[in-house]
Amino acid sequence: MSRPLVAATRGDLDAALAPARAQGRSLALVPTMGALHEGHLALVARARELADVVVVSVFVNPTQFGAGEDLDRYPRTWDADLAALAGAGVDVVFHPAVSEMYPDGPEARGVTVDAGPLGGELEGAVRPTHFRGVLTIVTKLLGLTRPDVAVFGEKDYQQLVLIRQATRTLCMPVHVVGCPTIREDDGLALSSRNRYLTADERRRALALSRALRAGADAGAGGADAVLDAAHTVLEETGDLDVDYLTLRSPELGELVAGSEARLLVAARLGSTRLIDNIAVRLGAGEDR
Ligand code: PAF
Repeated sequence: MSRPLVAATRGDLDAALAPARAQGRSLALVPTMGALHEGHLALVARARELADVVVVSVFVNPTQFGAGEDLDRYPRTWDADLAALAGAGVDVVFHPAVSEMYPDGPEARGVTVDAGPLGGELEGAVRPTHFRGVLTIVTKLLGLTRPDVAVFGEKDYQQLVLIRQATRTLCMPVHVVGCPTIREDDGLALSSRNRYLTADERRRALALSRALRAGADAGAGGADAVLDAAHTVLEETGDLDVDYLTLRSPELGELVAGSEARLLVAARLGSTRLIDNIAVRLGAGEDR
């Protein structure tokens, strides 16, 4: 296991990547906020398949947290993260300070990346500034790294769709690759926030993946059947504060009957907010 090069500044990152650029080796970026789990390591494994050199950024981005959200308590597990990335064969880890990414401070009014209409829906309806923060930091990371490929998890599905939209709209020369969600054996989607859950909340959280599974299994019956099946599971569990359960096209637009779709759910358990989603193949039933 060779230790990755750790770059803390933009200059360090440039220096770490210079030999690869000079040799024309392809580059993959996996942006993360640390607190790494198997889901992140699956992204790294995919990145290694796709490019010669893998860069992982570990940066808890303040601008994607709204007032009263969990920025201060977001898990920071740098030593464990670095050990995991070394074990996964990562070449370069970019671990900048906030001042490196936001020289004028994260609160400074300046140029940001607007997430457009979809940025105000679903997660954006509950977290109005979230996707602006995500797209702004991802744009900076892509600009600094200039990767051929950037790898993101489907767990944050709306984020993935918006990053695809942003790179396309802003003409960024990067191929955005999405990777399937990694789950515990009982179906719970891996998330850095799962560690906030009490044992009882974790048990109740299983309703999310069960509802999605039930919905996907009902796909042949059309959109109404999908939503009914998923709602039934959520209602049976009770005690869940559901923000949304919705069925959309894979690009999160209008549904097309008899086509691919995405079922998405968000719920609060105590002070923790969880999201999950699943692909659904819709039959010819009623469109919604
Ligand atoms: O998915 C995440 O961990 C973050 O939103 C990302 C993409 C690293 C941007 O901070």
